[in-house]
Parts: sequence; C-alpha cells; structure tokens
Amino acid sequence: MSKNIFLSVVFVLGISFLHLAQSKPSDYDTDMLSAAFHAEKRQALRDKMDPNSVAVVFANAERNRSNDVDYQYSQDPNFYYLCGYTEPNAVLIIFKDKQTIDSISTSEILYVQPRDPLAESWTGRRLGIDGAKKQLGIVNVYNNTDFHELKLDFGQFDKIYHSTFNNDVRDDANDAGDLFSLIKSFNERTEKVKNKKNAFSFNTAMSALREIKSTEEMTLLKKAIDITCDAHADLMRSLDSNTTEYQAQAMVEFGFKFNGSEYVGYPSIVGGGENSCVLHYITNRKKLHNPELLVVDAGAEYHGYTADVTRTLPLSGKFTKDQKAIYDIVLKAQNAGIKACKKGNNFRDPHSAAVEVIKKGLMELEVIKEPNEFMKYFFHGTSHYLGLDVHDAGTYGRLKAGSVITVEPGIYIPEGSPCDPKWWNIGIRIEDDVLITEGDPDVLSGKLVKTTEEIEKMMAEQGIFKKK
Ligand code: GLY
Ligand code: MN
Ligand code: MN
Repeated sequence: MSKNIFLSVVFVLGISFLHLAQSKPSDYDTDMLSAAFHAEKRQALRDKMDPNSVAVVFANAERNRSNDVDYQYSQDPNFYYLCGYTEPNAVLIIFKDKQTIDSISTSEILYVQPRDPLAESWTGRRLGIDGAKKQLGIVNVYNNTDFHELKLDFGQFDKIYHSTFNNDVRDDANDAGDLFSLIKSFNERTEKVKNKKNAFSFNTAMSALREIKSTEEMTLLKKAIDITCDAHADLMRSLDSNTTEYQAQAMVEFGFKFNGSEYVGYPSIVGGGENSCVLHYITNRKKLHNPELLVVDAGAEYHGYTADVTRTLPLSGKFTKDQKAIYDIVLKAQNAGIKACKKGNNFRDPHSAAVEVIKKGLMELEVIKEPNEFMKYFFHGTSHYLGLDVHDAGTYGRLKAGSVITVEPGIYIPEGSPCDPKWWNIGIRIEDDVLITEGDPDVLSGKLVKTTEEIEKMMAEQGIFKKK
C-alpha cells in the first residue's frame, strides 16, 4: 500500500468520528463580505457591460510549490469580489440581460467544485452547491463539470467579457471539472467567435469598480491596516542590534497572525544594510549590525484586503546624523505626497510633489550635482491603489473619493554610488495608506509613528520579543 493510500484509509476512518466535535458556524469568521455586497458588485458590472453581452469569470489556478505540495490557495480578486467563493475550479457567468436556459430564466450562473468526502478529509470542507447557494446567495449553482454541458450559444452575444488567462494552469487528468478543463471548454465553445472575446474590457470595468471601496470593504481594509500598524509598533519595541532580518520578519508577522490576519498581503520585505537599497528584497536572511538601517515593508491581509506599510528603523535604536539627514528628506517628501492626495488631482501628483522635495534635498546634501540625478536614488513610483491586491486595480486617472492609495517615496544609495561614501548603504522608504475623501486625505496608517524622534522613543520601550 502506498503511503498516500494508507493515509487516505486512516483519514476516512478518522472522519467518521468527526461528528463528535461539530463546530458552530460562529466558531469561524463572521465578518466576511456579505452575499448582498457581492450581488451589488455583480449588478454594478452588469451596468457597465455593453448591450447583449456576457462575462465569463474564472477562479484562480492552484499553484504548485514542489512535488505534491501546493502553495496555499488564493482566490482571483475579481472572482472573489463578484461572488465571494474562495475555492478553486469554479467559473461564474454574468449575463447583461436575463437568459432562458433549459426553461430557467437567469442573469447569472455559478459552477463550483462538488462536495467530496475523501478530498475534504485531506484539504478541508468544501462549500458545494448547497453551501454556495446558502452562503453566497446565488440561485443557479451547479457542479463545475456541468459547465461543459451548458446549453448556451456564445455566438449570440455581441461581446464576451472574460478573465485574463495565465499560461501555467495544470491539467489534472482525473478531474474533468478542473480549471484547465473549464478554460479549455470555454475556448473551444468560443473558437468561432474569438473576435467577440475581450479580457481587456473586463479588466477595465473591474478596475473602475474596485477602485472605489464600499463601506464593507473599508471595514476589512482598515482592520488589515490597524493590525499592521500594531505589529510594526511591536517590532519597533522589540528590535535590538543582535538580530537577523528573518527574526525581525518573524516579530512583525507574529503580530499579523496573532491578531487574526490570514496571510501576509505580499512577501514581507525586511532588508538591512545593503539590502535596505533593494526595493523588493524578500530573502530576509542577513545578520544585522549597527549602525545599519532596516527597511520593513510588511502588510497584513484580512479577509482578502491587504495593508501596505513601510517603516525604516535604525538597528542601534538611534539614527546617525547622516541617516537622519536622508530620512528627513524622505519624510518631508512623503508629507508633500500625502498633501497632494486630493480628490480631482492627477494620480501622479503625489509622486511629482515627492520628487520635488527629494531633488531639492539631495542637492542640498550634495548627494547629487544636477536635480535630475535624483532618479539614480529614487526610481519607483510613489503610489499605487490598495485593496484586494497590494498593487490594486484602478484607473490611474484622477484621484476619486473612496479610493485608497499608498504614498511611499524612498531614497536608496547603494555602495559604489557616485557620492560621498558616507551615504552608501543608506536605504529609506516610508509608506502609508491613504483614503481619498471629499476633503483632506485620511491617513489610515497614521497611528504608526514615523518621525525619527518618535521611532527612537518607541524603540527604547520594552517590546514582547526584546531580550532583557
Ligand atoms: N510592498 C510593495 C510595495 O510597496 O509596493
Ligand atoms: Mn506599496
Ligand atoms: Mn510596501
């Protein structure tokens, strides 16, 4: 008997005893987005769709880590936004106008993976058809394999909106309802009307919707940001010079998990010394030394919504004079960027405001000789939308009330840069999450300290991980 079959038998025997310890629904999260929220978003998409059109939206692919181990599943944000289903191998169809199929009149159909006691004994309970109807409030729900039999001529529509396909979806030969088969089926059935298919329009419509956050979304996003700020503060109180990047990462991520966040919203960037100058450094393996700076760019994800917050900390607990000089330019640039987060402004305005401060500051310190040389040391954008994705969907036009963007200027001076070596290996980024309102910007991560004085004061406190 192979190890897997043996384990299957053990698990199947095991689940017959599970009823002894049935949990209540209230033992699980009760603050998920509501079925009404998702229904409202489906209607909002319908309202944006062209006449006589259909949208076909697929769940995310499962991703393999190695051999028979997958990464933890993460739903496609558009799919999640439209229906709330968090499992793989599913497809959602939204019609602009009601269709009558097999004498059922409907404007939406959801295909989900079926209940399967053996599979569920390995990877957890599935919602199934009944669960999806009940929990997601969608009336017409079927098994994913039924998608192949759908009596619908896609040629009758003038436009077929659909998700973007990645080219790395694996075929499970034993599962006719896997994502591979669902996409194959869709492509075969739309082969003759390919010219009507449009992933770009789907993404455009979804970006416009997702850019403006509803009240329910803001509750979750604010929770993610609050958890993140508290965890960054705990790290500040605990960090000392005798540590490593991964220990600092552990200290901040502990706070995320302990306070209810399911995941990190993106791999935490915890880079000290030379690594503070690497924008998306995620190796996090270096020993840290005085007087290095540590860039900590880490955000908790809560029910799908992610924070994105960066603070830069001096290992010794005190910024050196030169570190502080650069830090204060970045802080001033960030404050100028935040001030430009006004409804009606161009999306690039916060960046332009930050750039002006950084140019001037680096010229004054003689780090650069010409203003435009600033690009050597600040070579990324200042803002992106934030929501279900860390780099969230949005229109990148004028700033609109109800959208959330980051403001995250930085200065990174790697070793060997054409300036006084005293500046080398100084990498600083400060990032906050800002809600655009009808009036002044609302800094959602504003409770987390960020001046050099405030950070030094907090680092002198006794944190939960600090060696006494
Ligand atoms: N955490 C990635 C970013 O700030 O864009
Ligand atoms: Mn960011
Ligand atoms: Mn970030």
